[in-house]
Amino acid sequence: MGRSSKDKRDIYYRLAKEEGWRARSAFKLIQINEEFDIFKGVTKAVDLCAAPGSWSQVLSRRLRDDDDDSKVKIVAIDLQAMAPLPGVIQMQGDITKESTAREIVSHFEGEHADLVVCDGAPDVTGLHDIDEYIQAQLLLAALNITTHVLKPGGAFVAKIFRGKDVTLLYSQLKIFFPNVTVAKPKSSRNSSIESFVVCQNYAPPKGYVPNMSNPLLDHHYDANFNNLEGPNRVIVPFLACGDLSAYDSDKTYPLQLEPGDGYTTLPPTQAPINPPYKTAKALKQKDLLEKCSEQQADGAVAMVSEENDSIPEDQVDTDEVNPTDNSQGEN
Ligand SMILES: C[S@@+](CC[C@H](N)C(=O)[O-])C[C@H]1O[C@@H](n2cnc3c(N)ncnc32)[C@H](O)[C@@H]1O
Repeated sequence: MGRSSKDKRDIYYRLAKEEGWRARSAFKLIQINEEFDIFKGVTKAVDLCAAPGSWSQVLSRRLRDDDDDSKVKIVAIDLQAMAPLPGVIQMQGDITKESTAREIVSHFEGEHADLVVCDGAPDVTGLHDIDEYIQAQLLLAALNITTHVLKPGGAFVAKIFRGKDVTLLYSQLKIFFPNVTVAKPKSSRNSSIESFVVCQNYAPPKGYVPNMSNPLLDHHYDANFNNLEGPNRVIVPFLACGDLSAYDSDKTYPLQLEPGDGYTTLPPTQAPINPPYKTAKALKQKDLLEKCSEQQADGAVAMVSEENDSIPEDQVDTDEVNPTDNSQGEN
């Protein structure tokens, strides 16, 4: 889509450029603040998954006083490099890596943040379950970092995909925050499953010790995880369903045939109507399915990447305002 037609279609995209925000996402944080007043009294903030930096811009503009910004500390982190912003300490790294989490925490040695925000989003694949799972991982990694740096009473705001397992995430957040609200700012498209959890009044369970044993960090299950004790060890109930006499899906059972009877394979109840392999199968049957040349294969790869750019809106929230447009830059 051309820039001018996007301007016509998307008011926030246009406004972001007019007001000098690096992405239209800026309005989401602004609107969340209008509702929840999360910036009140904040002098130390962390922006997780910050690139290209519109949330950091909002924090920088709203929290810093041009005359005296010595009390304000804003730490921003992303996988991607980000152009500098006034008063923002920037780091490049993966928030699901333990080393990155430690580095962020090290910036707050002896101090605590008043606010942690995370607008983290994976590169969406279009496969809902995978996208939701990765999003949940980012949120849990962000929560883990938050437990190390947030002061009691502080707030945590994070993007969430309201998928089918979202209540499990809510219950994990509720362990640390008595007030958890799901917010959908007007600038977040209705067609997108994106929302934001606004978690207020940080109050970890009594005796909880922040640790790096979060099993989701670095995608491995820490061997020490089962040794955690007291309030650090939260066990989510697991219920196995089904009668004990029911078949075990991991076992094989012999066919129950009368002596002398053969076995008849039944057709599927409903064959696929339009399977993706239909054309290939038809071509193959007529011996028309040729192996493509290397050149054709390259072309096919290029086509796939072009198609990925136009993934439907309900999957992708393309908020980034053209980073090459100098009119939006702050620096
Ligand atoms: C929607 S963008 C954030 C936009 C940003 N809040 C803004 O206003 O400009 C999502 C960001 O999450 C980052 N991200 C995704 N996974 C990450 C990870 N594991 N660690 C750090 N950043 C990550 C991406 O690089 C991307 O820049």
